[in-house]
Amino acid sequence: MRILFIGDIVGSPGREMVKRYLPQLKVKFNPHVTIVNGENAAHGKGLTEKIYHELLSYGAQVITMGNHTWDKREIFEFIDDAKHLVRPANFPEGTPGKGITYVTVDGKELAIINLQGRTFLPAIDCPFKKVEQLVQEAKKKATYIFVDFHAEATSEKQAMGWFLDGKVSAVVGTHTHVQTADERILPNGTAYITDVGMTGPYDGILGVNREVVLKKFLTSLPVRFEIAEGRTQLSGVIIDIDSQTGLAKSVNRILINDDHMFFE
Ligand SMILES: [Fe+2]
Ligand SMILES: [Fe+2]
Repeated sequence: MRILFIGDIVGSPGREMVKRYLPQLKVKFNPHVTIVNGENAAHGKGLTEKIYHELLSYGAQVITMGNHTWDKREIFEFIDDAKHLVRPANFPEGTPGKGITYVTVDGKELAIINLQGRTFLPAIDCPFKKVEQLVQEAKKKATYIFVDFHAEATSEKQAMGWFLDGKVSAVVGTHTHVQTADERILPNGTAYITDVGMTGPYDGILGVNREVVLKKFLTSLPVRFEIAEGRTQLSGVIIDIDSQTGLAKSVNRILINDDHMFFE
């Protein structure tokens, strides 16, 4: 079973990259399931209902989120009906939306779990305790378990990878917007990468207009972030999973920009 995952889609430049490249990636890699992180899809902050449907129309089956989940107020109006959307599962009890969803692949269930880290991010429930509970629940019916761990610190992400090694099919990191070159299969069979990277502007700073970010660094004054213009990139991973064991067989990075055309 093959999963294609695309990292943090930033604004319209990110959505354009998905629209342009997802059909080509599907022809080349033939994934059974495509999952995308959409926390920045609406002008860099959050997700609207229209963009939720737009991403699904490009071929994504599930959209994961992160710390920007609540940035567009209209999310509260559709999140409870958005079947294909997961937000971090360790948001406090009673938060709208859900942190786990399932997709059927050739008669077997794939669980998709979204979690958020707590290092350099708002204090929420423990992602480790929460995932332990969710994995137990998912194992009752799912052959495959995919985890998008949306976190800042590489240490917290590595900790999650090792914590879940052998218990889930894959742990992929999102949020930093910079792809790491540490993809591997951990010893007990879990595919791991610290961060998949972002999809959107290539010449900004994490997708944001660099003049604005530079002004902030140089003056410490408040600034208004804008999405960068110009060249664009797409970042993702392809994960192959054994359909008997639910464990990973391979993980390969995808990076498409003017300096890399990295397909496996
Ligand atoms: Fe992001
Ligand atoms: Fe984030």
